[in-house]
Amino acid sequence: MSQSRSLVRNILVTSALPYANGSLHLGHILEYTQTDIWARFQRARGNSCLYVCADDAHGTAIMLKAAQLGLAPEQHIANMQAEHQQDFADFLIDVDNYHSSHSQENRELSAMMYRRLRANGHIVSRTITQAFDPEKQLFLADRYIKGSCPRCGAADQYGDNCESCGATYSSNELIDPVSTISGATPVAKESEHFFFTLSKFGDFLKCWTRSGPLQNEVANKLAEWLDEGLQEWDISRDAPYFGFEIPDAPGKYFYVWLDAPIGYMASLKNYCDQHGLDWQQYWSKDSSAEVHHFIGKDIVNFHALFWPAVLESANFRTPTQVCVHGFLTVNGKKMSKSRGTFINARDYLQHLDPEYLRYYLAAKLTAGIDDIDLNLEDFIARVNSDLVGKLVNIASRTARFVNQSGSVLASEMADMVLWQQFVDAAPRIEEFYEAREYSRAMREIMALADMANAWIAERAPWALAKDAAKAHEVLAICSQGVNLFRALITWIAPVLPQTAAKAATFLNTELCWQTATRPLFNHKINTFTPLLKRLEKAQVDAMMDAAQKTLTQLRALDKTPDATDKPQFKPLATEAIAAEIQFEDFAKIDLRIALIVKAEEVEGADKLLKLTLDLDGETRQVFAGIKSAYNPQDIEGKHTVMVANLAPRKMRFGVSEGMVLAAGPGGKELWILEPHPGAKPGMRVM
Ligand code: MSP
Ligand code: ZN
Repeated sequence: MSQSRSLVRNILVTSALPYANGSLHLGHILEYTQTDIWARFQRARGNSCLYVCADDAHGTAIMLKAAQLGLAPEQHIANMQAEHQQDFADFLIDVDNYHSSHSQENRELSAMMYRRLRANGHIVSRTITQAFDPEKQLFLADRYIKGSCPRCGAADQYGDNCESCGATYSSNELIDPVSTISGATPVAKESEHFFFTLSKFGDFLKCWTRSGPLQNEVANKLAEWLDEGLQEWDISRDAPYFGFEIPDAPGKYFYVWLDAPIGYMASLKNYCDQHGLDWQQYWSKDSSAEVHHFIGKDIVNFHALFWPAVLESANFRTPTQVCVHGFLTVNGKKMSKSRGTFINARDYLQHLDPEYLRYYLAAKLTAGIDDIDLNLEDFIARVNSDLVGKLVNIASRTARFVNQSGSVLASEMADMVLWQQFVDAAPRIEEFYEAREYSRAMREIMALADMANAWIAERAPWALAKDAAKAHEVLAICSQGVNLFRALITWIAPVLPQTAAKAATFLNTELCWQTATRPLFNHKINTFTPLLKRLEKAQVDAMMDAAQKTLTQLRALDKTPDATDKPQFKPLATEAIAAEIQFEDFAKIDLRIALIVKAEEVEGADKLLKLTLDLDGETRQVFAGIKSAYNPQDIEGKHTVMVANLAPRKMRFGVSEGMVLAAGPGGKELWILEPHPGAKPGMRVM
């Protein structure tokens, strides 16, 4: 990024507030690790960066859960918060403040916000009819109603869609509906609700979502919703509800998703009040601070539609960035209790070092919204080869020789060329962190570690050390090794804060981003002690066993249906990403150069072109989704690469006999090959 390097940025970061009705799992940890690395990076760069979070303590699910446990909701959420805070600490998530959405600050801020929305004419009220549990005296959201599907008759389906035939419907169409809470038959009941007129913010949001705060893929998805038009947003719930009562409306409560994001402000205010700071300097319209929300792709609508609209109405600034990440999968499967791929944060901590996971996640995290797979075999291999085999190895194989010769580093650099390569890498690593391209930062760091190790191995100080006359040379080589290690450990410190702290002790210096590439000469170091242990498969197996046990317990306990409060919008779905394949799989693909002999529009298809391709005498017909980028006549006579051995597929418009490859982000930007004199149709592409 091009922010001036001398300016100290004033940054607020948040992670989504975890629900106070369950333990954290590794999916949560993905988000909190992503946020924490970014916050630590910003602080390391000398920026002011506050990271706040809190428990999301309100809603029907939490109320029911507390009742099920026989606790007052206040007690239940206090227990959960203590557990979550311990998990944060043990995963080295360095939040500046961890609060609760059920706090005095949030009560006041939510009321203030609501009053502003109302004063601006953005709150309307209307009477609606809803399913009601006559036994529990409770209005029922769709997910608390089950019955038989009105279309196919399948039994035991939720109130809004059928898992058997895929039909969507409203809960009053269900056959023989029952409340999953009491088993009673729901009745229809009227009630007055308050709505936020989100519909009035369509133009504002169309503009805001395109003004830079979102990843392109997220903005594109939102554009579809915005084009369909927004509806008013129901922000009230009837008693009994665990939450904040709405001002001037006894018995009516704020829907949990109204006060949850205000919880970001409340946690900040709680921090600022304790530290003599003004929370409004981050949130006022004229604020020069940055606000970055880190969230998962399932809650984009709340953060990139509702929240900015509420802020706009209430005359607060909108976030600088909403940083969306994908979901953690385990061995290629969605993390879910029913699939047995659910790993509790605590079960992990009981068996494994948090830094292993922090590194693994960093090595896979990008600024995109693709899901991230925790493949346990790959996890073990990656941690051992990168952290132990590459990074720590640099120090362990050189430091002992420095220690043996008085522990003082040499007074000059043995190889300036190599050192300069490290110096040159620093700005790239910085940019990758800033852009949340952690995987690229990790790749850069590990490539440098490879270089350092190769350089050391070539000089083999352990062999030279046998010859007393070479002592000077050994010290020079090993001092450079220690300096190279120091640069790398400084750059990876946001990911491995604990190892970095141990390294700082042995290096006898603070790790500082600004001086990482200024070598230490004539500097006394301390005795090297091992920094990180190898990760053993047995530990991972033990962790997975523990996770399975927890799952069994959870299944026995958890009789509440889907225990969250996330209805209303479909999650932001991403195209399925292909799983990693082996070279043998790749080798099965027959890639050939093809000549586009003819390109035609296809009647009734707005994305497809029908291509006639020549593969050295053989003609193929392929339907390709590249119409957005090309006029058919412009690509006739061009070459493209095609998958020649793809089984023919019958499509709506005819049979497609292969696939052409085009690269680019989409729309007008899709590229195929220009003809090249050396390329001949039918040629294999390697
Ligand atoms: N309470 C709401 C957030 C309110 S923010 C004003 C909520 N809570 S949650 O506990 O369900 O999720 C918290 C965060 O964890 C969300 O950003 C969610 O996307 C993220 N994750 C939950 N499961 C996840 C994975 N399996 N993988 C990655 N992130 C996941 O939503
Ligand atoms: Zn059905």
